Amino acid sequence: MTVISVPMDFNAEDLYVDLRSIVGQALFLKCEGFNFAGSIKLKAASEMVAAAERNGVLKPGCVLVESSSGNLGVALSIIAASKGYGFLCVTDARCNLSARRFMEAMGGRVHIVAEPTAEGGLLGARIAHVAALCAADERYVWLNQYANADNWRAHYRTTAPAIARRFPQLDVLFVGAGTTGTLMGCARYFREWHRRVRVVAVDSVGSVTFGGEPGRRMIPGLGTSVRPALLDESYVDDLVRVEEADTVRACHRLARRGFLFGGSTGTVVSGAVEWLSRHDGHEVTAVAIAPDLGERYLDTIYQTNWLQALYGEGVLATEELAADVGSA
Ligand SMILES: Cc1ncc(COP(=O)(O)O)c(C=O)c1O
Repeated sequence: MTVISVPMDFNAEDLYVDLRSIVGQALFLKCEGFNFAGSIKLKAASEMVAAAERNGVLKPGCVLVESSSGNLGVALSIIAASKGYGFLCVTDARCNLSARRFMEAMGGRVHIVAEPTAEGGLLGARIAHVAALCAADERYVWLNQYANADNWRAHYRTTAPAIARRFPQLDVLFVGAGTTGTLMGCARYFREWHRRVRVVAVDSVGSVTFGGEPGRRMIPGLGTSVRPALLDESYVDDLVRVEEADTVRACHRLARRGFLFGGSTGTVVSGAVEWLSRHDGHEVTAVAIAPDLGERYLDTIYQTNWLQALYGEGVLATEELAADVGSA
């Protein structure tokens, strides 16, 4: 029995899905969506809040303010509600409705930024809005997930050692890159580990995180329009870029087997399968990280009209999904 009195105290750290029968590659998917925030972001949020309290930056009466496409905002709204802080999330139209409703149910406020800046796109506009709020009122505290070292430290302390404990023979780890907190925390940990592990970053096409041209991205979580300050590419062994249409197909392929995951999981799985097929993946022990679950995406990734409007009528050709499953 597990008994808790604050929502941050529960997180399923040890759940993996063996994807071999679904994707045809030996790949273990670490599920990070089983906590009260429904995502891996609870770890980064808890670590950043705890550090800000220790440093005296965050005190009673403060209002946490953060730019988030949804999941960090949800996690911070829970922590703020539990600890008695205010919370304001600055986001854009890609933040799904259920995440907004969730934050508001926790007593948080949500500001939606509509106009991208010329240099930084919507993310740049969100950050400019946060900075303006903080400049206007000293009760606002911005933890800044894009530059806060406690974001990656959360994964250095928890996610990576948990994987190392269960997979002592780990060869390759696939991590999606948003703020790159998960990526940098895991990569730093495994660089110091006794065994060489290849850390493969997975990003979406249209993201500028690892260079390249900015492009349309509709699926929240992974990818940026401003390079994240936390990223140190010297820790990253390889990079896979995934088209959103492939993300969508991977999500539906998993759903057809009863696993409803979020968009970034589809991206990471798609990238991992592609990488493993190029590197004779049957010989390696491989783990990928699934940041959240799929319920928040029922009106987007799992909704036919939304999909067809953005990615075309054939994005989920039934023959293709059937063939995928059959080839596993
Ligand atoms: C669903 C989802 N996937 C992936 C990520 C990326 O994680 P990180 O910011 O640690 O790179 C996020 C971050 O918000 C997310 O919400």
